[in-house]
Parts: sequence; C-alpha cells; structure tokens
Amino acid sequence: MTTPRDILVTSALPYANGPIHIGHMVEYIQTDIWARFQKMRGHNCWYVCADDAHGTPIMLRARQEGISPEALIARMAEEHQADFAAFRIGFDNYHSTHSPENQHYSSLIYERNRDAGHIVKRTITQAYDPVEQMFLPDRFIKGECPKCGAADQYGDNCEACGASYSPAELKHPRSALSGAVPEQRESEHYFFRLGDFEELLKRWTRSGSLQKEVANKLDEWFAAGLQEWDISRDAPYFGFEIPDHPGKFFYVWLDAPIGYMASFQNLCDRTAGLDFEQFWGKDSVAELYHFIGKDIIYFHALFFPAMLHGAGFRMPSAIFAHGFLTVDGQKMSKSRGTFIKARTYLDHLNPEYLRYYFAAKLGAGVDDIDLNLEDFTARVNADLVGKVVNIASRSAGFLTKRFNGRLSGTLSEPELFAQLVRAGDSIANAYERREFSRAAREITALADLANQYIDGKAPWVIAKQAGRDAELQDICSMGINLFRVLIGYLSPILPGTAADSEAFLKIAPLTWDTIAEPLLDHEIAPFKPLMTRVDPKQVEAMLEASREDLSAEPAPLSKHLARDPIAKTVDFETFAKTDLRVALIREAQRIEGADKLLRLTLDLGGETRTVIAGIRSAYDPDELVGRLTVMVANLAPRKMRFGISEGMLLAAGPGGQDIFMLSPDAGAAPGMKVK
Ligand code: MSP
Ligand code: ZN
Repeated sequence: MTTPRDILVTSALPYANGPIHIGHMVEYIQTDIWARFQKMRGHNCWYVCADDAHGTPIMLRARQEGISPEALIARMAEEHQADFAAFRIGFDNYHSTHSPENQHYSSLIYERNRDAGHIVKRTITQAYDPVEQMFLPDRFIKGECPKCGAADQYGDNCEACGASYSPAELKHPRSALSGAVPEQRESEHYFFRLGDFEELLKRWTRSGSLQKEVANKLDEWFAAGLQEWDISRDAPYFGFEIPDHPGKFFYVWLDAPIGYMASFQNLCDRTAGLDFEQFWGKDSVAELYHFIGKDIIYFHALFFPAMLHGAGFRMPSAIFAHGFLTVDGQKMSKSRGTFIKARTYLDHLNPEYLRYYFAAKLGAGVDDIDLNLEDFTARVNADLVGKVVNIASRSAGFLTKRFNGRLSGTLSEPELFAQLVRAGDSIANAYERREFSRAAREITALADLANQYIDGKAPWVIAKQAGRDAELQDICSMGINLFRVLIGYLSPILPGTAADSEAFLKIAPLTWDTIAEPLLDHEIAPFKPLMTRVDPKQVEAMLEASREDLSAEPAPLSKHLARDPIAKTVDFETFAKTDLRVALIREAQRIEGADKLLRLTLDLGGETRTVIAGIRSAYDPDELVGRLTVMVANLAPRKMRFGISEGMLLAAGPGGQDIFMLSPDAGAAPGMKVK
C-alpha cells in the first residue's frame, strides 16, 4: 500500500433559511462518494460542512416567523442534518457559521489582512428603507424595469426582458419590505483589495490543479479587472460584528467560507491527534478540496484564497465545481412539482436510488445534470436491481437451502474472479478523477459478465439433477464472490446497500484492498432482498407531494409584501380600540349579482349585525350557519353596493377556496371579547 494521504474535503455550506432540495443533493452526494472512496483506499480523509447561518434573508425570515435568528438556525440545522443523515452523507463534522470558532477565524483573517494593508474604508451611497430603518440589499428593492417598463422587477435584473441594471436605475423604486420609497443614504464600508493578489491568483490558476472551465472563468475575470470587494454591512444584520467597528458586520460571504475552517477546528478540538495547522498552516502539504456549485466559483476561486493568503494560511489544493440539476430537462419548478425537497424525496423513495442515478450522470466537469424521471426509474431498475442485486439473489437461495449458507473452499473460475479484480484499478482511477459515470459504467459492465456466467451455468437446472451438489455449490459460491467484488466497488455510491450486503455476507466493512481476497469456506446469512424496484407510482406520488408542499408554503416574504406593502404603523392605543368579538352565524345568504359576497347575520349574544363578507368562493352558506367566528364589532357601518355592512369578519388566505375564517374553540360564547 502507498502512504496514506492527508485529505480535507468540504461541500458548500447550505443556507439556513430554507430546506435542502435534490439540487443541493448533487453536491453532497458527489462529495460524499469521493470522500468515502478515499477512506476506503485507506487515506486520512476528513469531510466537513456546516450551515451558512448569517445574512439578511435569514434575519428577515426569523422576523417573519416571529422567532429569533438563533431559534431559526437551530431548527434548520436539525432539519438539514436529518436530511443529510437519511441520504447517508457521511460528514465527519457538521457545524455552523454562527459559532465561536468561526467568529475567531473571521476576526483573525480580517485583522491580519487589515494589518497588512489589504482592507480600505470608503463611504458609499446605498438605498435605505426609512420605515424598516435599514439599508436594502439589491434583491429587496423593486420597481419598474428601466428598459421595458415591466412592473415589480427586483433589484438588478428584469425577469420580463432580461436586462440588467443597477438598482438606482429602477423607476419608481420601492422597498420590498415596507413598500416605502427608498432613500439614498451614506455609510462607511470596508473593502478587501482583491487586486493586491492578482499575480498570486494568476499563478494559482495556471498551476494546473483547477478544472479547465474554472480556469477559463478566472481568466475572464482577470481580463475584466479585479474589483475591491465590500465585506461589511450595516446593522441590523445577523452576523459577526467587525472588531473595532461597532454597528458594522461582516458580510455573510466573508465568514461563510471561513466556516470550513471553523468546522474543521471544531473537529480537531474533539479528535485526538488531528491538528488544524497541519491542514491549514502556510506550509501544509495536506490536500484541501472544496466541492461547490458553478454559481459560487467567484467566492471560492478569488476572494477566499486571497483572504487566506493575506492572513498567512495556505490556499486550497483545488476547487471542484459541478453543474446544476435540472429535472426532466428544465429548471426545478415549484408549479411542475419538480422543486423536490430532500425530505419529500425520502418520504417516497430510497436514497440509494438517487445516489446511484447522480453518480451515473456525474463527470468531472461543470455540465448541468438532468434528472429524467423515466430514465431514473428505468436505470435503477435495470442496473441496480436487475443486474447487481440479482446476482446475489440468484446465488444465495441454493446456498441457504442446500448448503447451510456455506461457500465452497475454492473458486471454481479463478480467471473470471481475477478479471473483476483487475478492473479495480481503472474504477479507482475513475473515482479519483471524479468520473463517477465512468466508474458506474465499468461496474455495470462487470455485472453483465457475472450474470452471463450464471446464465451459462444455469444453476436452477443443475439443482434438479442428482449428484451435482458440489458443482451447484461452486457456481453459487462464484456468484456470491462476484457480487462481493461488485458491491465493494459500488460502496462509495451505495453505502447503505453495501452495509446490508456486508451483513448478509457476514464480513467486515470492505476496503479497496480487501476486495481482491475471495470469500471461501465461509458461512453467509439467509438472503433478504437488498433493494426493491422503483415503482413509477412512487415517483408520481413524490411529484404530487411536491406540488402540495408548494400550496402549504407561504409565498416568500418579499413577494407578498411588495404586492401589498405593509401600512404605516399604528400605536398600541389605536390598535386596542379594535373590539374583537366571538359571533354566532345565524344566517348566511348568497347575494344576487355578487359572486364573491355572502350576507351574514351575526349574533353577538343578544345583538345582531348584518355583515357583507367576500368569502363566497371558500364557503358554502349552508355550512356556515351555526358556526362561531370572530368579528370586528366596532367598525363603523359602511355603505356597500349591496347594502350596509355593520362590521367585519376576520379571515385570511390567498383567495379562491383558500380563505380561512377564524373559529374560536367550542367553549366560546357569542359576544365574548377576544383578547
Ligand atoms: N451558502 C452558500 C454557500 C456558502 S459556501 C462557503 C450557498 N448556499 S446554497 O444553499 O444556495 O447552495 C449550496 C450548494 O448547493 C452550492 O454549491 C450550490 O451551487 C448548490 N446547489 C444549489 N442548487 C443547486 C442545483 N439546483 N443544482 C446543483 N447544485 C445546486 O450557495
Ligand atoms: Zn425589462
């Protein structure tokens, strides 16, 4: 065996403001397969990750839910980790960017760069929301497109005509948070002088360790000129306060990649013999790789290496970028049901299927990969169930029934076995280079050989003939041995099936070296199906559930509020004047000529009111009679087209069939005050 390598790998840190979806899973599965492969080879490989917990969207989402950002990120961390565990992503550590380790390294890296003169201060003018009293990130400003005039366009590009512009060019700009007209205000910001590192970054690009596409991207950026990078944000912000600059926070993208270091430090602190400096120190010879999506190359290939170098840490050995997932040839879409959350997938399908399918599609480049759901079903059923698992099921039955599960003492076809073992080098090479589709192809070709062998020997025929027991045992033992090699090769991709197979074979976890040793004169356990076929109905059910997820989810904060800006605040005294009462619905009638309205007679415990309410699309008048609801009892009567309305019902919802009246519990009585 060669000397073990020291390898540290990371996947990008998922944002803590939303669930993990199957697009994310491309990356975590890709990294996990690679890390598992390295471990199987006997290398000292560590795989760390964390939640990316900072930034404006997380702060606002927590506010929208009425909880603290800390509570939100704690909940998300739990959900994310449950999803990853179910997909058998084998992190050695999963941490958070909102951690003491990350605060330490973020401050340290900032201070060292500052002391070396790589940070400058400038005053900039920025959109400010006078109601929310905060500066607005571009994506929180809406207005009319300066090119085509389309309404309701976000910050810097138009969804209607595709134009890009600066938020200052938007016509009639509004804050997506409050609806207020943004003001331009000045603020002092801190900038990282990326240009100081141009030579270094160019040398790194040409070092040959980057993917061709990534190196080309970098060349484009060099040609365009390296801009200074704004690393600060004003309060209110959920993040780390900048040392010496109270009220200013590190921009989330400053501390996010440093989160890789924080997670690793956290691992070192609880792992004897694991040394941070050995992996991140200036003279480290360990290998350090970041798996990322192609959308975040700029941060990983320019800012992060430059900041590391500026602070006296080593730079990554390489960045491994991958493409984006499409489903049935199109961007994941909520309305088509193809925006599939990891959890929704897991509710319906075996995670091993997706791991295999992604592996069978993944190469070393940045091409997008498509999940074609028909192909997914066909491929998993044909390759995994039909070819690989089938070898075990065809061989095991006879061994259990006729030989107490005992394998022969010799291999009857040593050359065939040797052929599978010899293929190991090429498969290992494919894994090493992240050419997983090639690895999968080579392994299934070997499975074809194994099946041909069994077909040729027809053990089911021999089993019926007297005096051929030894032959039958040999054939089935060969089958099991071939299966064992195949599942060994597949185990980075299929860790769950590999573990189940190891239990069935009664063997220790396979390493790459032990694959070559045949299993002889050994007792195996009775066979249980290792994997069942994908039923297209399960796929359909998953899509259906994804569509339902959509209607259960509130529309994103910014869209809601932009359409219907929140009104000016009222003080508590004004609010407290509203008299909310439990009301019993005595009568409910349709109104001729008004297809949205119902006329209700409401009983307030002695006093009755007539209220005209726009709830006809959601409620049948007959089912309303006799129910309790809540009304504003002291609203001044209003003359409407169909009569006078003496109050208002409390109801909410997006409209149509989804309008929900408040219903107090059964103990409430008409006229009771609602507090
Ligand atoms: N928080 C940042 C990363 C910080 S790393 C220091 C982020 N988070 S993310 O949740 O949006 O994405 C996490 C990773 O998943 C990224 O590498 C991203 O490229 C990848 N993917 C997100 N959607 C994806 C697809 N639809 N397809 C493939 N990968 C995708 O970016
Ligand atoms: Zn436009």
